[in-house]
Amino acid sequence: MDRTQVILPAGAVRRQEAYTGRLAALYRRKDRPPLAMVDTYGCQQNVADSQRIMGMLRDMGCGFTQDPYAADIIVINTCAIRENAEKKVFGVVGQLVHVKERNPEVVICLCGCMAQQETVADRIRKSYRHVDLVFGPQALWRFPELLYGVCTEGKRVFSIADEHGSIAEGLPVVRESGVKAWVSIMYGCNNFCSYCIVPYVRGRERSREAADILNEVRGLVEEGYKEITLLGQNVNSYGKDLDVPMDFADLLREIDRIPGNYLIRFMTSHPKDAGEKLFAAMAECPHVARQLHLPVQSGSSRVLKAMNRGYTREQYLEKVDMARRAMPDIVLTSDIIIGFPGETEAEAMETVSLIEQVRYDALFTFIYSPRPGTPAAKLPDPASRAEKQIWFDKLLDVQNRISAELHRGYVGKTVRVLVDGESGDEAWPLSSRTAGGRLVHLRGDAGLIGQYAEAKIVDSNTWALFGEIFSV
Ligand code: SAH
Ligand code: SF4
Ligand code: F3S
Repeated sequence: MDRTQVILPAGAVRRQEAYTGRLAALYRRKDRPPLAMVDTYGCQQNVADSQRIMGMLRDMGCGFTQDPYAADIIVINTCAIRENAEKKVFGVVGQLVHVKERNPEVVICLCGCMAQQETVADRIRKSYRHVDLVFGPQALWRFPELLYGVCTEGKRVFSIADEHGSIAEGLPVVRESGVKAWVSIMYGCNNFCSYCIVPYVRGRERSREAADILNEVRGLVEEGYKEITLLGQNVNSYGKDLDVPMDFADLLREIDRIPGNYLIRFMTSHPKDAGEKLFAAMAECPHVARQLHLPVQSGSSRVLKAMNRGYTREQYLEKVDMARRAMPDIVLTSDIIIGFPGETEAEAMETVSLIEQVRYDALFTFIYSPRPGTPAAKLPDPASRAEKQIWFDKLLDVQNRISAELHRGYVGKTVRVLVDGESGDEAWPLSSRTAGGRLVHLRGDAGLIGQYAEAKIVDSNTWALFGEIFSV
């Protein structure tokens, strides 16, 4: 598709602002300002999308609440990545029927990746009649118009057309803190890993113009944000669709030139497209965190092929070596799927041996969940759930030991951290992150939130480090 078709004309976004204005006028006629509840599931991409939805709601005059019974508008932003995620959402949406009974005026919206699936939309249409508006991620920018339709026509609205997807610049946003911000640099995914639903619900890969990204990051740095995470399903595909040639490594270097006291993180980087150029840029850019989330998914080359990942075990290990040669202190994390259809015990143990070899700082581990419509869901899957659970537990045991060992290595050292909030732990009340993204609980006062500090690490466990602040 042509870039001019992908990037929405400014007029299209302005038309949505007009709907926002009309909704604000409708709400002003009521006896009190409206309240909205936004409930978000899934990955950071969804969190970033919810912040845009909240921006639109704020511009309609809404305040925010966590209480569905107090809300005038409820938005559930959903995730379809595994069956559990979907079940949870159906549970939450089912409960909202009581809210609608008590307050028939409430407008209930379901959006995000689940909403994009025809089967889900059908189920909502037939069995969850209290849901008023359903729209997929590609229609997010049209939320004001869709909501206006529901409010003025009194009809249910479904907007889930299978779209390529576009890029809408200039949408309003409400960010959750003044410290950390998410910046989407691209949308969609073209990789079609055989187990994954994302390419079917998030549309085709499309990159934002570098100038727009740079302006957004510059603005955030000027506002005092200290940690900016660049988002994309595969950030290494950034720029493939741009008219002016530019790749992700180039983009990192451009962003790094923005002056200020801040750190850049990014996710996710697909191993097949990560290489010397990216690692050199990371190593040479002082604002870029020495942290790499490089999801391997499996340690078996046969399974990787069946997953359509585009690399072998050996090629992956070579990428890890390459990253470590460029940045010996790099913090490495990964995603793993255990129990892909047809995976044998020996193959699952190849994954365990890979994590022993790489020694990741942390892992996100999942048991395979069949996603209807994906190629893997059609494969024979002879291993039982109980068997897969045993492999999974084995993997976790090994990773927990490695994380604990690596964390112990920090004790006695001094690290620079960004204090990002309260931990909820009385003895170590502050929560912070190292440049590599490791969690550090700290003693200190809440006035330090949003600041960088030097902390001496005094203790550790599998999940976190514990430290004393000694200078700010
Ligand atoms: N784009 C990112 C991943 C997004 S989804 C990447 O390619 O790394 C986050 C993680 O969910 C994936 O890395 C994978 O480990 C897991 N996942 C995706 N589909 C899954 C499925 N059907 N069952 C179990 N885990 C899955
Ligand atoms: Fe899914 Fe693969 Fe795309 Fe990641 S790269 S979102 S795992 S299809
Ligand atoms: Fe879930 Fe969609 Fe993210 S399926 S993991 S919310 S891209």
